Amino acid sequence: MEPDQDREYLSAHERYRALRAEPGLPVGMGGRTRTVTRYDDVDHVLRQIWEFGGSMGYNPDLPEEEQILPSIPEPRHGRIRRVINGAIAPSRLKPVEPYVRDLTRSILTEIVTGEAVDVVPTLVDPIPVRAMTFTFGIPEEDADRFRRMSDEMVENSTEVMTTGIGGLHPEFSDYVDELIAERLRMTDRPNDVMTRLIEADLDGQPLSPVAVRTQMMILILAGNETTRNLLGNLLYSLARAPGLFAELRRDPTTVAEAIVEESLRIDAPVQSLFRTCLKPTTVGDTELDTDTVVQVCLGSANRDNTKFDDPDEFRIDRTNQRDHLSFGAGPHICPGATLARMEARIVLEQLADRVSAIRLAPDQDPEFAQFFVARGLKHLWLRLEPA
Ligand code: HEM
Repeated sequence: MEPDQDREYLSAHERYRALRAEPGLPVGMGGRTRTVTRYDDVDHVLRQIWEFGGSMGYNPDLPEEEQILPSIPEPRHGRIRRVINGAIAPSRLKPVEPYVRDLTRSILTEIVTGEAVDVVPTLVDPIPVRAMTFTFGIPEEDADRFRRMSDEMVENSTEVMTTGIGGLHPEFSDYVDELIAERLRMTDRPNDVMTRLIEADLDGQPLSPVAVRTQMMILILAGNETTRNLLGNLLYSLARAPGLFAELRRDPTTVAEAIVEESLRIDAPVQSLFRTCLKPTTVGDTELDTDTVVQVCLGSANRDNTKFDDPDEFRIDRTNQRDHLSFGAGPHICPGATLARMEARIVLEQLADRVSAIRLAPDQDPEFAQFFVARGLKHLWLRLEPA
């Protein structure tokens, strides 16, 4: 990696390495937070949901049906999670696979020319949002509008706790409401995530249309940029390691999965989560008061050398490959992980089929998204040589 291209990220990881070696939980962000960097501590905080409250905060003024999944207090969170898990269970995602494969193929037909191409707007950005469109049952002809609205929602997402997710983007919210109303009028509904949420049984009751809209919108919000970050990070790693791509081409089926996991580990698309102490508690020997905010550094945990050998090396031969914490851990663990992994695997398999070599374009530096809690690329110019 070229240090001048990405100083912020590299220095954050140097700092994490130093912090992991310090005893206790260092104070961070101008004294307002405690920083959790070691693997075991990160895993502990994420699992102790009765001691550490949700990463996006909680607004008690919002009605129950407008509370988004990460903020719903237990035990209701657990009940809604079962509905969401059922709606996007791996077995339900089978029809998405050929759709994403065809989509990737048609994009590669356009961009695999051997000329420099920015793969972020052409490949990385469209795939997660189009996969989402298909998975949820958004009409194909609305794909562009859906993409624009979901991007705009991501841009404003820091306001979600104040406005509620519906208030974040009223046009999008009204659009989803209309789709749900239309579905409710249908007698023979298509088999997709929207229908499954509408027909879900929550202790003998259906979810209200507003609750369906709320959870659909948080799934879209949470799954878009995260998956893009994964795809961009993956492509950047491949471009810098020609041997890795050659290995992928030799055995795409096995190697693709290993590369996806290793990319998730070494470049966690979500680098940090935040939690607030709900009561006095401890992490290791450190005592924390109620309302203390902790920064839970997933990116750091994934490079803890007590858990992963040679943690700064991209290696696809790890036996504990899936132990990274990039999808979180415990009851809030990412429900979209199967979908994200599937998209990334398909992109790799299709590249292995259509491309003989991936190189960084010589005159155009990659541009990274601002590093704070995420790791991703805004622009990545590559030369994809046709196979
Ligand atoms: C590479 C892609 C992805 C990454 C790295 C990622 C990462 C994460 C992480 C770290 C969490 C835990 C948050 C916490 O504990 O506070 C999470 C939760 C969540 N993710 Fe993902 N995610 C990805 C893709 C997706 C996709 C595709 C979807 C939707 C289809 C999705 C929907 C959600 C939702 C709704 C939650 C909240 C779960 C809860 O609070 O119970 N994510 N994700």
